[in-house]
Amino acid sequence: MTVKDRDRLDDHWSRKARSEGYPARSVYKLEEIDLKHRLLKKGMRILDLGASPGSWSLYAADKVAPRGKVLGVDLKPLSGASRPNLSFLARDVLTLAPEELASEGPFDGVVSDLAPPTTGRRDADAARSLELAAGALRLASALLRAGGFFVAKLFEGADAQAFVKGKVQPLFARAVVMRPKAVRKGSVEIFAVGLERLAGGPGPGSEAA
Ligand SMILES: C[S@@+](CC[C@H](N)C(=O)[O-])C[C@H]1O[C@@H](n2cnc3c(N)ncnc32)[C@H](O)[C@@H]1O
Repeated sequence: MTVKDRDRLDDHWSRKARSEGYPARSVYKLEEIDLKHRLLKKGMRILDLGASPGSWSLYAADKVAPRGKVLGVDLKPLSGASRPNLSFLARDVLTLAPEELASEGPFDGVVSDLAPPTTGRRDADAARSLELAAGALRLASALLRAGGFFVAKLFEGADAQAFVKGKVQPLFARAVVMRPKAVRKGSVEIFAVGLERLAGGPGPGSEAA
């Protein structure tokens, strides 16, 4: 694909997001991961980490409605993203203890689009992104029910691959890496996907059909 083609595709995702009422084009990354792995279903409880401005939360809230629920967590508020089954907690994921969310769970899915402010120093940015993904996995391992799923953004590189193999894979029946089409050209973003959390997590409690 040429640079021009990629630019056109970027415009396409941003325009589509605006016309469909999402605050960010990132929604199409989650949509692609969801459609490929059939993750989100009616009645599920979903924890969305790094939720602001709110596209993933809106998408997930609509997919799990009417009885399912989404809890978004971010340092920054959701900008105008609102649904009756969407709630929000303004917190730093790195200092959030799983016990603080215990009454909201267990969750059927934990998704993380957490991203650090980038510095342009590739190694430093990748390390910070990995720290956030590890924070998401720490919460998921405490709050995700058996059979549940995990999605987390990573910056690609040897450490990201090691994270998926060494930390995500052991908790799930299957772990894969995806790079959705809506990822911006030149971006180093990839997504770790953990499918079917192995037994050992919190007990049942999901309303999922
Ligand atoms: C790419 S944005 C998420 C976009 C969102 N998924 C959407 O679709 O609207 C990444 C988010 O991670 C949040 N973030 C970064 N570090 C965080 C932390 N330690 N705790 C909570 N949120 C954090 C940022 O504030 C930012 O809103």
